[in-house]
Amino acid sequence: MTFETDILSVFDKKWALLTAGNKGSFNTMTVSWGGMGTIWGKPVATVYVRTSRYTHEFMDREDYFTVSFFPEDYKKILGVLGSKSGRDMDKMNESGLIAKELKQSVTFEEAEVTLVCKKLFMQRLEPANIIDPNSAKFYEGDAPHDMYIGEIVDIIRKPQKASEQGDELFMEEP
Ligand SMILES: Cc1cc2nc3c(=O)[nH]c(=O)nc-3n(C[C@H](O)[C@H](O)[C@H](O)COP(=O)(O)O)c2cc1C
Repeated sequence: MTFETDILSVFDKKWALLTAGNKGSFNTMTVSWGGMGTIWGKPVATVYVRTSRYTHEFMDREDYFTVSFFPEDYKKILGVLGSKSGRDMDKMNESGLIAKELKQSVTFEEAEVTLVCKKLFMQRLEPANIIDPNSAKFYEGDAPHDMYIGEIVDIIRKPQKASEQGDELFMEEP
């Protein structure tokens, strides 16, 4: 299987896990807002994390984060990881996902593609600065989002099974 998808809908339709920390201490949560592009001459991924999320503490503490994309059949698990907080549940135990330690961060054995990101920038999306009234409604009685831009320093692809390879070049995980 290849990671071919419409770049404008990859977060919205596929969802992802945003993870920060190391194997001894990390947290992960589901995200569907985000983007990929270029800034300051670097390939980047951008994510938006409400200040109330447990993951926010890890995003502030760590220099790196990962954005991991999963096959469609993991959507139910992503739904759970996006509705309960790591403050209240053991996310790894209950999801059954297997954490995989990287040099700078953590991803999961089951992820088909992981973006390893080095934090470049963060800024609050000040609700008072939101021009569109419909978008401002997201903050009525809810915490603001902080935006984190990370340089994509590595893209890890899960090795394909021989049966899935087809004619394509087989890319081994680095
Ligand atoms: C499909 C989906 C997408 C989500 N996208 C975001 C997002 O982009 N940013 C955000 O702050 N929360 C998002 N959430 C909510 C968090 O994943 C959720 O609050 C989670 O329980 C936070 O976990 P934590 O407290 O362990 O960090 C999303 C939830 C779902 C189900």
